[in-house]
Amino acid sequence: MTTNVGLTISTMLLGLVSSGSALAQGAPLKVGLMLPYTGTYASIGVTIENAFKLYVQEQGGKLGGREIQYFKVDDESDPSKATDNVNKLIKRDNVDVLVGSVHSGVALAMANAARANNTLLVIPNAGAEAITGALCARNIVRSSFTNWQPGYAMGIVAGQKGVKRAMTITWNYAAGVESTRGFTEGLEKAGGKVIKDLNLPFPGVEFQALLTEIAAQKPDGVYAFFAGGGAVKFVKDYAAAGLAKTIPLYGPGFLTDGTLEAQGASAQSMLTTLHYADDLSTPKNNAFRKAYAIAYKAQPDVYAVQGYDAAQILANGLRAVNGDLSKREQLAVAMRKTPVDSPRGKFTISPAGNPVQDIYLREVRGNNNVFVSIAVKALSDPARGCKL
Ligand code: BEZ
Repeated sequence: MTTNVGLTISTMLLGLVSSGSALAQGAPLKVGLMLPYTGTYASIGVTIENAFKLYVQEQGGKLGGREIQYFKVDDESDPSKATDNVNKLIKRDNVDVLVGSVHSGVALAMANAARANNTLLVIPNAGAEAITGALCARNIVRSSFTNWQPGYAMGIVAGQKGVKRAMTITWNYAAGVESTRGFTEGLEKAGGKVIKDLNLPFPGVEFQALLTEIAAQKPDGVYAFFAGGGAVKFVKDYAAAGLAKTIPLYGPGFLTDGTLEAQGASAQSMLTTLHYADDLSTPKNNAFRKAYAIAYKAQPDVYAVQGYDAAQILANGLRAVNGDLSKREQLAVAMRKTPVDSPRGKFTISPAGNPVQDIYLREVRGNNNVFVSIAVKALSDPARGCKL
């Protein structure tokens, strides 16, 4: 009798446990999108969300067999609000996966929260080196780049083009500092040097005094990190100051991605380095560009590629565990080990969780960033400080 009762109870418990986990797998996967929807990076946030959702729609609305339920927070690209914002998604909405963000300072706060709560985090843009360096973790992967990667590649290219004395200009926060440091490292390796670094606070656009200093110093070239609305203003101001004719302006591709219509003539012929070029003529890129244009009546850019690939990387992990997020190590392995068939070209993910990818040299022609050559093949971030 006692045994029977015991058996009955354990059978009931077993039933509860298995139906509980079946429920967890059958229930929608809660995805928390923490992106900028206002401010200088607003258009980047929208593009990432669009492309993430495009990939999910192409999979019939499911990843790893699970429907997707979205939760959204506008992070305003404001690091001082980032911890509160990410906790809304983790603690209030109980999301299973965090996707975000664009701004490095915001993403650093997200990475700390993801580590503290063991929440899965997929980063669709922000390049802060520490996230796949000293703060690297098995539950964090990036579909984009580190700030070092395109900067370093542009330094190599500028050196090869004979730039001996360069200046840099950027916003004074992690992305700008790391991007210009990468450029300096590449340029020094290629025989040049940076004579002066200029900066202003994010997201300021009062460039005039700094442009006057560039004109006075007459370097062989200028490397600038700006993105979104700030990149539009900077490239226009640089041309309006008459500098574009005499001192070539270089940058990571963010300077001209998603901005060309607004920059118009001021950006023509600019050379930048990035892990994407609009005209890559591969079946994958052609299909992606067509699908994005049909869905959103707009041309995709690097941010769209990164949003799309964030969903792909998540899908690679979820497929391996049949949508069961509790199999964390299997998930982490699959997200890293499955090569990503991206519109940018196939790439792999390093143990630290960052793409190992070709960095292209591109030239602005009309409204396109056109492929010129591979600046650095299969470039892997050094992942300084990562113990994985
Ligand atoms: C960043 O903050 O990491 C970032 C923002 C926009 C474009 C590229 C990098």
